[in-house]
Amino acid sequence: MIHLRNVSKIYPNGTEALKNISLDINKGEFVFIVGPSGAGKSTFLKLLIHEEKASFGKISVNGFDMMKIKNRKVPYLRRTMGIVFQDFRLIDKMNVYDNIAFAMRAIGEPEKKIKKRVKSVIELVGLNGKEKCRPNELSGGEQQRVSLARALVNKPELIIADEPTGNIDPKMSFEIMRKLVEINNRGTTVIVVTHEHELVREFGGRVIIIKGGTVERDDKIQTVYHPADQDEGDVGT
Ligand SMILES: Nc1ncnc2c1ncn2[C@@H]1O[C@H](COP(=O)(O)OP(=O)(O)OP(=O)(O)O)[C@@H](O)[C@H]1O
Ligand SMILES: [Mg+2]
Repeated sequence: MIHLRNVSKIYPNGTEALKNISLDINKGEFVFIVGPSGAGKSTFLKLLIHEEKASFGKISVNGFDMMKIKNRKVPYLRRTMGIVFQDFRLIDKMNVYDNIAFAMRAIGEPEKKIKKRVKSVIELVGLNGKEKCRPNELSGGEQQRVSLARALVNKPELIIADEPTGNIDPKMSFEIMRKLVEINNRGTTVIVVTHEHELVREFGGRVIIIKGGTVERDDKIQTVYHPADQDEGDVGT
């Protein structure tokens, strides 16, 4: 579902953030992207969501040719994915409920369905009771969880998350990752950028190490975690 061939990204100030990257991510994969700060991880994700355009190479995501896609088609591309941004990007003037519901309203879903689904993802990320709060009334970890709920609400076929547990305590991080694995087990492709080596060790799977704008390693590592051991039932997706 994701194909990159000889992709480079040079920012207007001359920084070469990605250098000649080629890789494929198939439907149903769970992929961790790791690497030092400034390595190019967020840039890689930004190319996938067409927030930045590659300088060279070919990228296709969910059937969209990213080198040719017209601006008016970008919303259609984004509808095929749920995105958790490193800096959350919540709407300050909207409360938690509306921030999450917004993604469903944008595609014209009926209010009744929205109500049910928003309630279920709020539960999933453990934010019950915070529905009426505005983002500035929440902690960093709570805002991060709103951003995750918003990414999940439309049941996308692909989830792209940039440090989704960067502001969350270890126990909650583990829970969030466990939910992502469960969602992945139901067929959703998940790409997660993380600094947390503990999580990568625990959950294993495919790990792509990006360093200095290139793919340094791309391995499958042994999974310690077995969803069947700890399944707590339906996660509402
Ligand atoms: N808009 C931009 N303009 C110019 N240079 C940029 C821009 N965004 C990122 N960079 C540079 O590109 C390189 C890769 O940045 P990127 O944000 O992809 O790193 P990262 O791996 O996500 O780091 P972190 O772990 O700190 O989030 C860095 O050298 C950064 O300074
Ligand atoms: Mg980053």
